[in-house]
Order: sequence, then C-alpha cells, then structure tokens
Amino acid sequence: MQSAVRFSSQEALRFASCRTFRSVLKCRREHRLVPVHCTSHPSTNMATEAPRAAELANEVEVLKAQVAQLELSLKQKEQELNLVHPYSQSYGKTSIATILCSADQGRSLVGRSLRLGGWVKTGREAGAGAFAFLELNDGSTFDSLQVMLNKEVAEAAGTALNKLSATGTSILVEGELVATPEGTKQAVELKATKLHHVGACDAATYAIAKKKTSFEFLREKMHLRPRTNTIGAVARIRNALAYATHKFFQENGFLYVHTPVITASDCEGAGEMFQITTLLSKAEKGEDRPPAMSPEKIAELKAKVSAQGAVVKAAKEAAAADKEDKSLASKRDEEISALQRAKDELVKAEDNARWIAGIKHTADGDIDYTEDFFGKKAYLTVSGQLQGEYYACALSNIYTFGPTFRAEMSFTARHLAEFWMIEPEMAFCDIHDDMRCAEDYVRYCCKYLLDHCQSDMDFITKMIDNTAVDRLKQVVSTPFKKITYTEAIELLEKSVAGGKKFEYPVSWGIDLATEHERYITEEIFKQPVIVYNYPKEIKAFYMKLNEDGKTVAAMDVLVPKVGELIGGSQREDSYEVLERRIKEGGMDPVPYEGYLDLRKYGSVPHSGFGLGFERLILFSTGLDNIREVIPFPRWPGNALY
Ligand code: 4AD
Ligand code: MG
Repeated sequence: MQSAVRFSSQEALRFASCRTFRSVLKCRREHRLVPVHCTSHPSTNMATEAPRAAELANEVEVLKAQVAQLELSLKQKEQELNLVHPYSQSYGKTSIATILCSADQGRSLVGRSLRLGGWVKTGREAGAGAFAFLELNDGSTFDSLQVMLNKEVAEAAGTALNKLSATGTSILVEGELVATPEGTKQAVELKATKLHHVGACDAATYAIAKKKTSFEFLREKMHLRPRTNTIGAVARIRNALAYATHKFFQENGFLYVHTPVITASDCEGAGEMFQITTLLSKAEKGEDRPPAMSPEKIAELKAKVSAQGAVVKAAKEAAAADKEDKSLASKRDEEISALQRAKDELVKAEDNARWIAGIKHTADGDIDYTEDFFGKKAYLTVSGQLQGEYYACALSNIYTFGPTFRAEMSFTARHLAEFWMIEPEMAFCDIHDDMRCAEDYVRYCCKYLLDHCQSDMDFITKMIDNTAVDRLKQVVSTPFKKITYTEAIELLEKSVAGGKKFEYPVSWGIDLATEHERYITEEIFKQPVIVYNYPKEIKAFYMKLNEDGKTVAAMDVLVPKVGELIGGSQREDSYEVLERRIKEGGMDPVPYEGYLDLRKYGSVPHSGFGLGFERLILFSTGLDNIREVIPFPRWPGNALY
C-alpha cells in the first residue's frame, strides 16, 4: 500500500494560491495529498477541507490584488520623489523608462525640468534649420523619447544642429517635459534648454548608421550592435528571463549553487570538452625548458655507461682475486662511483629528451600532465550537473545558472561553443516531478515576459516573428503534451508512411534529429511537447535505467522554432547499475569516484534538467540564429572581442 503524503495548512495555502480550487483537488488526487490532521482517515475530512481551501484561495487572490495595487502606488510615489537615477546623481540623469514606463506614460511629469542622456537614434532638422527633433534612446526601455532642440541651444554648446542629429551621437540634455499634441504616439517630449554633453558621431564612418544592416554584418561589429533595435530588445528580454529564472527557483525553495567552470570530469561523456592547459603557453615562452638533447648524445652516454660497467666488472674481479691488496678494493669503489655518475647523467639526459617542443612527455610518449597547472588534465565544464547533484544530495533542491562550453564542430543556428545553462537538481524527485518542474519554469518565464517586456515583445512581434507573443500566450495557457519516445517514433513512422520525407531515417533506437523534434512540436502537436523514456544507448550514463532494461528515465522538452529546449532525467541512484553503466560506456571511473560515492552513502532518488538559456530566448523571440541572442557569440573559428 502506498502511504499518503502529509501536507500542512501552510502548504495548502501555497497550493491554493497558485492553482484554482479544482486544480487543487486534482493536484491532491495526483499526489495523494491529505491534510496533516487526517492522515489516518483521509476520506472523512475531505468534505470539510474542500470548501476551506476554496475560501483560502479566494482570500489569497484578493490579498494578491491589494498587494499589487499597493506596490504600484508605492512605485509611482517613489518615482515622483526621485526621478534621477540613483547612480547618475553627478549628471542628474533621469532614465527614459522612468518617464515612458510610468503608469501615465509621463503625463504627470509635464512641466518638470529633467536631464536625459543617451544616443540619438534618428534626428531631423525642421523649420529651415531653426530646430531639430532627436529620437533619444538610453536603452532603459525600447522606446526613444523625442527631444526638441533649437539652433541657439546647440550653438551655446559649441555645436550645430546637423551634428547633433547624426545617428549615434551621444548627448546629455536638459529641458522641460512638455505634452505632445493630441494624436502623437507619445504623450510627452523634452523641450531642450541646455546641452551638458555631446559625443559626436561621424555618420560617414559609423558602421551602423544605415537603417537596415544584416545580422551577419552586425556580428562583425559586436561593440556597436547593442545600439540596434533588435539586439537592444534581445538584451532586455535576456535580462528579464534571467531575472525570472532566479525568481522562479527562489520562490520555489531552490538554493543557487555555483558549480565550477573548470572541471576534471566529462558530465555528458561525449568528449566534447575544451581542454585547459598552461603547458602550451609555457612551451611557447620556453619556460622550464631544459637544454636540447639529441639521440646521438643519449647513445654516447649509454655507451659510456656500458663501457664503465665493463670497467667495474674487471675491477670487482681483481679485488676479489686479491683481497689483501687494499688498493684494488679502493680502485673498485672508485669505478663503482664513476658508473653511478654515468648512470645519473644518462637518466637526466633521457629525462631531458622527453621534452618535445617544450612539453614534457612520459616514458610511454604521452604528454606528462603532472607538469600542468592542475597536475592533471582539466577542462571547461559542459554542464554543472554532477556537482549540482552533490549539493542536491545534501540540500535537497538546488539550481545552477552559468556558462557551459562545448567543443562541437557545429555551425548550426542552434549551437554555440559557449552558452548558458540553467540546471536544477532535486532530491526525492522522480521523472514526473522533473517534467512538472520544467513545464512550470518555462511557463513562468513566458508569463514574466508577457507581463514585463511588452514594448520589446511588440517590436519583436512586428519586425521578427509575428507569432512570438501568441507563442508565449499559448505556453502560459496550455499544458505541455507528454509522450514517450516510443510513441514519438510511432508518430514519425506514421508521418513517413503518409509521405513525409526526413533527411535522417526514422526507426526505434535513433537519436531524434532536430528535423524530427521540430516536426513533432511544430507540425504534429503545434505546441511544446515533452518526450520521455529514451533508449539507453542514446542517452548519458547517469540516467536512471527503467525496469524494461532498455530505456532510461530521460526527458526532453521540445518547442516550436527551436526543437530541444531542455534535456533532463531522473538520475541512476543504484551504485551497482551506475558503476556498470560507466564501465559499459568505456569511461574512466576515476573522475567519477565522488559521484559513485553519492550512491553509496545515503543515496536518494533525484532528478534534474538543463535548459539552454539562449534557446529559451530563441523560442521567445523567434529569431533564426542563436548567435543573435548572446552578447558575444562563440562558434568554431570565431571568438571576436
Ligand atoms: O541535453 P544536454 O546536453 O543536457 C545536459 O547537459 C544535462 N547535463 C543537463 C542536466 O540534466 N542537468 O543540454 C541541455 C540543454 C539542451 O537541451 C539545449 O537546450 C542546450 O542545453 N544546449 C545548447 N545550447 C546552445 N548551444 C549548444 N551547443 C548546446 N548544447 C546543449
Ligand atoms: Mg540533450
């Protein structure tokens, strides 16, 4: 019999606050949750508990609305009190977001004298050169604020209107915020009275002066590309998703753990790691390099040892033949010492000869890593999972969020050599809880974007992908589809039978290619899909072997536009099975000793997953290439800046 899970009134409140009453009941049924005070007879108290939970849920909703209203008023009052950015006091600069993103889009600030600082997006002269309109952007929000500036203000600052209206010019401008005429897009604009700073920008040489520049071109001008609309919007979306990530995990009781960037173990066992070594730079500098040793010199020293060996043999025999003659004994000892010196010289020479091109090798001819910085081979991490598991197996729920590195020779629009990964790890958590967590997390991020990045998402939807906002809304409102790998293969085979052509053939046992994954999520289900229980042969050694002995408790979250967004699994918690899997994979068990130990000392069922952060941004924005969603992309042959 399975025992009932207890839950406290506090937990009841949590459930009630985040789900409707019906889903609370459903959730309870699924988890066999019963209130703390009725564990012996769960069914008898359900009738009275249900209305109470509904009441609580209502109360929580009302309180939440009140808190939200109070927070909004507080924010407005705080902004009224201090419009100047806390860390721009010396320049007195107000951020454009403070004005345009306020509840009334800045109307209540009309008449205030403000200073704005930023870069001119576009400028045009008007009134026969008497004044200019500048669209000023400071990156705090998508929209620019219009500045109206007359010739005299420009001249007083020692410049001219046509210089100021050049795209890319930086200014710090003071003026009065005035209401714009009825029907104008923005409610307010700044009427300039004084220029405090001008950073000229030569339109003739400014690389991104033109309105339309390709993303490929911008990748060569990475220092300027954040000033473009798209890359600026992506930067804010990225920031929002990072913040939402921490918020989601912190709100759900996860501990943020910093797993190492430098590691000695290959988590995915795929051998796609960047090696870290100081041996090469030392070799280039010629440090520690002993004098060159030629094979001829070694041969000469070997001959010397051998000749001296013969001399020693003769001296020993002579001394043995005439034990009375003390001079023979002392001659023998001298020759033995000479032999030892010759041998030492040979050993040293042979040791020196192992330095090839400035790098020490072992007697077997391999590189001698005891001479390296860490005294052994070290790499940039491909995943923080293994170290994450160590912490989860002590602290229960943890997550990492850091850079990971893969030395794959991959030039696709979905792969980077350096990318960021979010990896939660949960103790007492099976594959089903793992999938639930992945789904809730992705949904939380999508909702956060809809609630907090409206102007950026509107721009993205208008200019990049007109389905972007709808995609986010769908994730927020629709549960993810869940199918097993076997079902996925059956569906693909059915499509092939119906005439669908794939580059890679479909059959049970294949590793799903991006074309298969995208077909499942984009064509068959038209929504996010979780595929689980994959053949063990195509997944990593650490995944829990299912009872069928053929599949592992792995899960991948597939989403439209991207394919695989998340890869995760329940972890193998049996020492024997894990050890066998490591050996079967032909891996060296030594770096995994600690990992195996976890299964020896207080092993627990645990699960986790990794979400590729850039892929989440791709999914959110609909951009075609992953190189556009990370500030400084790295791929084979490219490490600019
Ligand atoms: O599926 P992966 O390889 O899983 C792991 O690394 C596990 N250790 C995670 C875990 O269970 N803690 O990678 C996870 C995700 C993929 O689903 C994908 O979104 C992303 O990382 N990813 C990449 N993103 C950009 N460029 C690459 N080269 C990527 N490789 C994987
Ligand atoms: Mg994967």
